[in-house]
Amino acid sequence: MFVYRANGRREPAGRCPGHPHQPHLRTLFAPAVAAAAPDPAKVPDYLAAVKPAGNPEHGDYQANFAMALAKAAGKKPPEVAKEIVAALPATADIEPPTVAGPGFINLKFTSAFLARAVRDLATDERLGLPLAAAPRTYVIDLSGPNVAKPLHVGHLRSTIIGDALVRILRALGHTVVGDNHLGDWGLQFGILIYGYKHFRDEAAFQADPVRELARLYVYINKQFKKADDDDEAPTDDPLKKACQEETAKLHAGDPENLALWKQFMPACLEMLRPIYERLDVKIDHALGESFYNPMLPGIVEDMQAKGIAFESKGAVVIPNAKGIVPRTEEEMKKEEPPAILRKRDGAFTYTTTDLATIRHRADTWQPDAMLYVVGAPQALHFKTLFAQASRWGYDRADYVHVQFGSMLGADRKPFGARKGGVVELMDLLDDAAKLGLEKYEASVADRRENGHKVYEATDAEKREIAEVVGVGAVKYADLSQSRTTDYVFDLDKMTATVGNTATYMQYAYARCRSIFREGDIDDARFRTAPPAVVLAEPAERALVLQLLRFPEAVEAAAADYLPHLVTGYLWDLAKATSVFYEKCHVLKAPTPELRDSRLLLVDLVGRTIRRALGLLGIRVVERM
Ligand code: ARG
Repeated sequence: MFVYRANGRREPAGRCPGHPHQPHLRTLFAPAVAAAAPDPAKVPDYLAAVKPAGNPEHGDYQANFAMALAKAAGKKPPEVAKEIVAALPATADIEPPTVAGPGFINLKFTSAFLARAVRDLATDERLGLPLAAAPRTYVIDLSGPNVAKPLHVGHLRSTIIGDALVRILRALGHTVVGDNHLGDWGLQFGILIYGYKHFRDEAAFQADPVRELARLYVYINKQFKKADDDDEAPTDDPLKKACQEETAKLHAGDPENLALWKQFMPACLEMLRPIYERLDVKIDHALGESFYNPMLPGIVEDMQAKGIAFESKGAVVIPNAKGIVPRTEEEMKKEEPPAILRKRDGAFTYTTTDLATIRHRADTWQPDAMLYVVGAPQALHFKTLFAQASRWGYDRADYVHVQFGSMLGADRKPFGARKGGVVELMDLLDDAAKLGLEKYEASVADRRENGHKVYEATDAEKREIAEVVGVGAVKYADLSQSRTTDYVFDLDKMTATVGNTATYMQYAYARCRSIFREGDIDDARFRTAPPAVVLAEPAERALVLQLLRFPEAVEAAAADYLPHLVTGYLWDLAKATSVFYEKCHVLKAPTPELRDSRLLLVDLVGRTIRRALGLLGIRVVERM
């Protein structure tokens, strides 16, 4: 596994030698590959091609380096593969490897190895998760809502994906600084100020400023000619112009507007708090756009002095990512536009603020990487920003735009952008919790009908289940998409009790716990003094293999910032677990040794599910 850095450098992800799979196999192969490789520098690249087998019938892992090695040495791939296999040291950990097709080497662990490895795993609190050999410092830019507006689903993805990345990278031992780049300085405050001055209900404001400001925002916004309130281009809408003027006055330091801004801010932040609480997302810093305002003139001056920004038609611009300021008609058609740092009217921009932010983050935290978890439409902004920040001298960190696609409604149009259809996030979570609870109750009734004895949850427990299931469903659905694609928001699918959903994983966890309750068994023994593991059935072997793969999945997710590799792993684990239950009795296992061995596996399944969901910011309940 490699980390692809923004500037094209590629290097092995920091690993710890603790977990048994790929590193173990690679160590086994290293001497033979080194002997066969004409260029010793390429050895790690070849070894990286030891990967989980695509088809489990061929083995557990596959080594695919023979083709590349053969090419370099001018030999036939199957020959090279056979030579390497012959040169492997004697080991009881894998079955004798077989060579297939154009030179694939198929690898299968021995049952003795798997039994030993999974027993070791049971005593490991980290479940095999490695601590990075070379920990890095990441600054992650996440959430970034525009305060003073009612928060809507548009900001959900950044918050959920960003939080998952914070948790995953931290779990691997990296230092992670989360920073919420709040939009707290834009037109929305002009709207609030204008609304406050002209339309406020003083009694309502005194009683509940949060609610009254939200009402004013919606009230004014509805009257704009164009619904698109992010469009800063002058329109012929006099109301919008008036709001823009209030914004300009605020930026120019007008004492009245500044005082109003200061008065509104706590209320605006208060609107966000319950959402973050409910999502169980804590962000270390919330240095919003306003924080950087005083630094902006200095940024523009510095960039001009260093020859990175230029005057152009009264404005100050930085060239596009290619370093070009398109001037001729032809260039204008062909080239990406430059970014504006200061408009002709003197106003600073999103880009200027982002440059100030980079400087602040670099100076404060000296990060190795800055990740921006922001939607795909801002790709051009970040491309230019990163290129110019590097030229400016801030080139130590890797810059990564961790972009994501849109969340679509059932009509396949972006959720937040539908006219009049801004769905407030709180309502959406309420709906998810309600549906989650309904399905839970239906499943309880169903299980009863089928003769199972099912625990009767108290009302408090039901409320907890609704919340954990509902919020988990929304998060999991978001995270289980490959993040760059658009996806349709479908509450019914998200809360399904079967399939690759949070609910299914939460049930799977609760089932593990219920086995221990039912048998009245203390789980601590399986973690401190684990019994011997006996692999009698293929289903047990397959399950053990999955349990051992947890670290690989997390590392892969961290390397490319793809949380869906963790949900994909959970899905594989859940499938292997369900086959295991089908084929293997646990409490009624044929022998006490097998019973103990299987209980150890069940305990590990539960711990792994809880840990993996935890990395995604999703909770579990002990019984449901
Ligand atoms: N507030 C911005 C928006 O809603 C997102 C901020 C992203 N972060 C950044 N550093 N530009 O579009």
